[in-house]
Amino acid sequence: MAVVVSLINMKGGVGKTTLTFNLAWYSAWKANLRVLAIDLDPQANLSQYFMGAEKYVEYLDSDKNTVVEIFEQFSAPKQIKGAPAPLDPKSVIHRLRRWSDGSLLDLVPSRLELAWTLKNPTEKAHLLPQFLAGVIDSYDLVLIDCAPTESILTTAAYRSSRYVAVPVKPEFLATIGLPLLARSLNEYRIMHQNQALEMAGIIFNDMRRSGTPPEQRKAVADVTELAKAHGWPVFDTVAYHSDSYPSGSRQSSPIFLTDNARNYVIGEFAAVADKFLKSVGVQK
Ligand SMILES: Nc1ncnc2c1ncn2[C@@H]1O[C@H](COP(=O)(O)OP(=O)(O)OP(=O)(O)O)[C@@H](O)[C@H]1O
Ligand SMILES: [Mg+2]
Repeated sequence: MAVVVSLINMKGGVGKTTLTFNLAWYSAWKANLRVLAIDLDPQANLSQYFMGAEKYVEYLDSDKNTVVEIFEQFSAPKQIKGAPAPLDPKSVIHRLRRWSDGSLLDLVPSRLELAWTLKNPTEKAHLLPQFLAGVIDSYDLVLIDCAPTESILTTAAYRSSRYVAVPVKPEFLATIGLPLLARSLNEYRIMHQNQALEMAGIIFNDMRRSGTPPEQRKAVADVTELAKAHGWPVFDTVAYHSDSYPSGSRQSSPIFLTDNARNYVIGEFAAVADKFLKSVGVQK
């Protein structure tokens, strides 16, 4: 059965989507795992990253299901006709790749209308774990890319997950977002004491490789101290700043397939990904 991991941070723009995309690719391509990525952000960045902007628009135009249908099975306008019927979980999964060794890369795409779910959130958080229960046997690893704000979607991600992993961009504001996350996670755990939900670790991302400015060093020290206070592991591997990440997002390609990506950048990311897979116990 798959291990489910949410990539989360209440701070925006820290690399949640970039790491989810690259970890998903790495886990399927290099670690030969069956991977499902779930885009749980109405911004749908992960969906566009995987499919490319044009294919994503085509996907939406073709009226295929998205994560919205998981939360709005009975209330989305096109579902109103007839008696309510349970959602076929496979109908929201988009197959991106399948390799001959059985490893695969699947996506539950998102769309802007996921924001509706936030307007009428009652009784919906369990719908994501309910969906996952129907498909989880087909995967080794499920990665959930979260939005940067606390909402019903955060609760749905927690309820589905065995682990959370927290990308952090070392800057002053990172130390403001983390206590919010600690609070959100602790509140959730108090409310759901029979669910095992663990912190896989803090992953520093987008850090300067050399000549680290004093502000970044200070932020790393602050975050490390805060992590220690909460008993959270901090990865000893770092996804350093590289322009190949934004280039890769334009090309829909992971760092190790991105044109002109430096070998040391690819190696640094591989070290992060190996550490990640070990931390969540799915290294094959
Ligand atoms: N290691 C890196 N080096 C260079 N640029 C990076 C790196 N990681 C992320 N970026 C860039 O930083 C921006 C924000 O990254 P990303 O969208 O992954 O963050 P996010 O946490 O998912 O944001 P949001 O909170 O809006 O969902 C993107 O333009 C991405 O290409
Ligand atoms: Mg994102």
